Amino acid sequence: MKIRKAVFPAAGLGTRFLPATKSQPKEMLPLVDKPVIQYVIEEAMASGIDNIIIVTGRGKNAIEDHFDVSYELEKILEGRGKTDLLEQVRAISKMVSISYVRQKEALGLGHAILVAKPLIGEEPFAVLLGDDIIDAEVPCTQQMISVFERHQSSVLATQVVEGPDISRYGVIKGEPVGADSEPARTYHVQDLVEKPPYSEAPSNLAIIGRYILTPEIFEVLEHTRADKSGEIQLTNGLRLLLERQSVHAYRFEGKRYDAGDKLGFLIATVEFALKRDDLGADFANYLRGLKF
Ligand code: G1P
Repeated sequence: MKIRKAVFPAAGLGTRFLPATKSQPKEMLPLVDKPVIQYVIEEAMASGIDNIIIVTGRGKNAIEDHFDVSYELEKILEGRGKTDLLEQVRAISKMVSISYVRQKEALGLGHAILVAKPLIGEEPFAVLLGDDIIDAEVPCTQQMISVFERHQSSVLATQVVEGPDISRYGVIKGEPVGADSEPARTYHVQDLVEKPPYSEAPSNLAIIGRYILTPEIFEVLEHTRADKSGEIQLTNGLRLLLERQSVHAYRFEGKRYDAGDKLGFLIATVEFALKRDDLGADFANYLRGLKF
């Protein structure tokens, strides 16, 4: 079955970026000059997905406005003859068909996905978390879709995280599948645990925010208990799914930036700016001249 739809959970409070996120969604913070959510939506589109579902919450109207037609802005840019900017602004609203569904309470990632159930129905779908920006030759979601097509199971993106930082992630215990690379890229998931203490992590393979999920995930999420903080974790839902069907993990090719973290966000900003044709050379010159 073809992966046609993708869910973008965007109802989180963004407390890690306060005060910037007091009245502005964290998904709208710009990396150079583009909101982070646009990077992930473009990745889904470049992977052949044209049905986008954004799970929003209170205070997230700016996301809807961003992907909508901005009539006044277009008129002003047209009047001033700013055709380049006009085209850029128009392209955003023409990009894709986006549906919005509201998560009324911040009850966790698993709950956010459950909220999208009526818009997904009975088909496998992708989930992309905007905190993870992945720069890759083949878009990460497309890599994941290829693994799904091979195994017809849910697929979790993973990367190696060394040391105590592993406890900031969902962590998998996996058995390598075949010998697609050394170390392996594809794993048969045997267990997974959300944010374990370092000493209890089953491996150094962290779950990164790209998933292909089979529709059975909805049934298990409906029965997944909230954790201590009252949130329904996707990782705990996947653990239940594992009792019913196989799940794979894929160590994707590409560089992942943690845009949900201040340092990660700064690193992404610098590296993305350096790659830009219009800014890279000047910015590199500026950086070279800095005294530390
Ligand atoms: C979520 C997931 C976690 C995963 C992470 C990837 O956590 O719950 O399993 O490792 O995304 O970015 P969050 O960072 O939203 O707390």
